[in-house]
Amino acid sequence: MKNTILDIKSVGKSFPGVRALQNLSMAVARGEVVAFVGENGAGKSTLLKILSGDYQLDQGQILLDGADVLHASPLAARNAGFRLVRQEPEIVPDISVAENIFVGEYPSRSFGRVDVNAMRAEVIALLQRYGFSDLIDISATGRSLSPAQMHVVEIMRALKPGVKVVAFDEPTSSLTSDEVARLFDLIRKLKAEGLGIIYVSHRLQEVMAISDRVIVLKDGQKTGDLTTADTTEDAIVRLMVGREMIYGFKREATTRDDVVLEVEGLSSPWHRDISFNIRAGEILGFAGLVGAGRTELAKVIFGEYRRFGGKIALFGQERDIRSPAEAIRADIGFAPENRKAEGLILGRSVIDNAAMAVYTRLARWGMLRIGQMVDAVGPVIRQLEVKTPSLWQEVGKLSGGNQQKVVLARWLVAGPRLLILDEPTRAVDVGAKAEIYRLIDRLAKDGMAIMLISSEMPELLALSDRIVVMHGGRLSHPIEKQDATEEAIVALAIGTGAAA
Ligand SMILES: Nc1ncnc2c1ncn2[C@@H]1O[C@H](COP(=O)(O)OP(=O)(O)OP(=O)(O)O)[C@@H](O)[C@H]1O
Ligand SMILES: [Mg+2]
Repeated sequence: MKNTILDIKSVGKSFPGVRALQNLSMAVARGEVVAFVGENGAGKSTLLKILSGDYQLDQGQILLDGADVLHASPLAARNAGFRLVRQEPEIVPDISVAENIFVGEYPSRSFGRVDVNAMRAEVIALLQRYGFSDLIDISATGRSLSPAQMHVVEIMRALKPGVKVVAFDEPTSSLTSDEVARLFDLIRKLKAEGLGIIYVSHRLQEVMAISDRVIVLKDGQKTGDLTTADTTEDAIVRLMVGREMIYGFKREATTRDDVVLEVEGLSSPWHRDISFNIRAGEILGFAGLVGAGRTELAKVIFGEYRRFGGKIALFGQERDIRSPAEAIRADIGFAPENRKAEGLILGRSVIDNAAMAVYTRLARWGMLRIGQMVDAVGPVIRQLEVKTPSLWQEVGKLSGGNQQKVVLARWLVAGPRLLILDEPTRAVDVGAKAEIYRLIDRLAKDGMAIMLISSEMPELLALSDRIVVMHGGRLSHPIEKQDATEEAIVALAIGTGAAA
């Protein structure tokens, strides 16, 4: 291809116990959007981190606009024109948006001082050029930004002058559908400007909508290089998992038992007069837009945030849970959406992280019994198909989706009576998703009460027995499974639905 901007030749990369990439070759042309897809641990992020200079490759060659960028450092990769939009942007809370965009590389210095005016002017020009001026105030501080605004900052960092290839690593997981549409407009602009674009996502609908070509990775090897217009989601999935997928998970009607959680008239800084209950064996789905206050509700119940008023009862008994530790003692589990900040201790092993909620149960005379830990954790890790060389691997070294599975594993091991799941399949691949659905279904069948927060409508509809919708700090009446439609729920979530 003479229009090639990025040429990756026979790249290989291994970690102890893992061959993350094997003999991988691919090219990206100017003005082309190439999607990378593959199961959790397939090697997608590893390839991006090699391109960004975070990791060094073991074998192969990378040409960016004709220049060899082999063994580049992060700064060298940036200067060569490769920019990575990370899934979890690092935002400095105490400095402005403009400064955040220039963190670590201020535009021009005179006698060691930053030229603040030049920086502001450049940021304003960038935001205008890509149509984001209305979304963000450049003097706002980092701490005041919403997840979507943080994402805009991260994108602007990438688009500063000199950019030739931009890679997006799962860019849409914290965006509303409106924001996804804006991101796609941006990507089309970048295409028109002749940049090369790499798009990594587990959301195949988005891949079909925005990409020109799809590269499929499996176990570090390329199993497909397809023209998007000539392929289908099914064909991609087959190449990803190496077998036919069984779709159409369907949860059978269940018998609902005693009320496990009863919330009445709860109010908090985010909520007004919230009431609902969840019975043993039931999955109650929480729909709403990103930022509607569902995560905050979970944290109020889990004792992390305080409420002003209202009652919370567990098994018919009113409780005032004041900390997560108390919540765990009261048999409540919470798998948070933000696994890096709240869910996992990245420097500790898979087994430590998964056994964390049952330490006291496994400890005898103050001693942890390793054999028991292995017996408790091993089967769950296998069942979730967590891709790890061993139970003793550091969690921080697993791929994003596999880290998510370890958060779930912790609560499967602990087996609480009330389990709060916040976006349980975020960043998880299609095959693992189906497996996780089956597990959640089985937990409910075994009598657990499950509070399921999800922004994925098919997931909510497939799993929930009833669905409630949060909007403007209030909660709708529950909608029974058989009456729940996507249209009705979306209307309630954006506030145009008939007040139920
Ligand atoms: N720093 C590291 N140390 C050890 N192993 C690593 C490291 N980084 C990645 N790996 C391993 O390399 C493999 C590929 O991981 P990678 O993060 O590239 O997967 P991925 O395709 O991005 O998956 P996901 O969809 O879950 O994000 C995995 O088995 C992972 O555990
Ligand atoms: Mg990844």
